[in-house]
Amino acid sequence: MPTATIAAVGSSELGKTDLPGRDLFSAALAEAFEGGPDPADVVDAVYVGNQSESYENQIMYGTLLAEWAGLRNVPAERVEACAAAGALALKNAVRDVRTGVHDAVLACGVEKMTAGGTEGATNALSAAFERALEQRSGITAPSQYAMLAQRYCHDFDVSEADLAEIAVKNHSNAADNPRAMFQREIDTEQVLESDYVAPPLKLFDCAPVTDGAAAVLIANEDVASEFGLGGAGDDAATDADPDTDADTVAVTGSSVMVNNLAVAERDLTFVEGAQIAANEAYDQAGVEAADVDVAEVHDAFTVCEALLAEAAGFAPEGTGVESAMEPEDRSEGWTDVRINTSGGLKARGHAIGATGLLQAVEAVEQLTGQAGDRQVEGAETALLINEGGLADAATAAHLLEAR
Ligand code: COA
Repeated sequence: MPTATIAAVGSSELGKTDLPGRDLFSAALAEAFEGGPDPADVVDAVYVGNQSESYENQIMYGTLLAEWAGLRNVPAERVEACAAAGALALKNAVRDVRTGVHDAVLACGVEKMTAGGTEGATNALSAAFERALEQRSGITAPSQYAMLAQRYCHDFDVSEADLAEIAVKNHSNAADNPRAMFQREIDTEQVLESDYVAPPLKLFDCAPVTDGAAAVLIANEDVASEFGLGGAGDDAATDADPDTDADTVAVTGSSVMVNNLAVAERDLTFVEGAQIAANEAYDQAGVEAADVDVAEVHDAFTVCEALLAEAAGFAPEGTGVESAMEPEDRSEGWTDVRINTSGGLKARGHAIGATGLLQAVEAVEQLTGQAGDRQVEGAETALLINEGGLADAATAAHLLEAR
């Protein structure tokens, strides 16, 4: 079986931009292919993660982005599972290369969320929830996750200040990430004094509304050898961590699970689908949770990071909130993993359809020693968890290894 290898990565600016989705994509693609071959000479197929046509009144994103990449007569399609769309694109690309159907597949994601303001984004995101009862009762993404947070805090004696530490840690990481939307530190008081969006979640517990795009080229080893993981750029390469000098990143685990849509029918504090997907990714790669050095998990709201740390097997039940602590200060049973070194969705930004691929961009930078001031020394193994809908309505887990 060919090894699905990450040949190139790129991202656009993240935040509120004047650019339409197609131009955000072009920026991500240009970075990924900088110094490499022309996309038209390499790419056999395209998958586009994209959440909603409501932002730009645009569907046909497969065709549009293939065309924008200079490709003709290739298979190209949009995939969606709300915020897991980017990782679904990645999963499809990995599958196509592993099975030998294609030699090189472009997984990309794009979202122009700010086009309709916060109200437009809130409406678009609400479409990810169960319609018959939940949408009609006025639920929003923050209010759904607030229910999980209420239950988590109640069951495990976790405080709002504990959750706030996750936001503080992720903003601190983002301050060292030139790709991040919010490159600034915050403190606990700022989080606690920010306005409630849906109690106990406040402004700084929430990921922002973000424009952005990402592009990840998955290829077999032959094609990948034509690239130098150019997405990280020459400047970053000069800062490379000598303990993390890999020049290839393989996707050795790839799994997608769906659970259920309605919040009424789920365990609010156990993200079962994420646990199953992570375990399947570990099994495919032949690794264990304790082997993972860095993880990008779906912290759309601070409580998500805590829940996913537990589901991924990094933390005992009820202690996931300690992800903000230094490894030596965490409870017994925790691994040494560093979570959301990019700043996570919370501070790097959450351009819905791009997020699963932005996670891969960070993992590549970590595994090739090009993460600058946020570099985790000796990082060799990374886990990505990307979710769509409420918690594990759809979960994708990918295991990446430095080679
Ligand atoms: N974290 C930190 N700062 C944020 C922020 C966030 N999530 N959202 C906005 N801000 C900042 C803005 O930069 C702006 O700062 P400035 O005044 O210094 O420029 C200020 O807060 C107001 O921004 P605005 O866009 O007017 O905020 P808002 O009240 O309209 O929206 C939220 C805030 C939290 C409601 C919105 O970001 C949101 O809905 N987030 C959740 C998105 C979501 O559900 N994603 C899917 C999850 S699966």
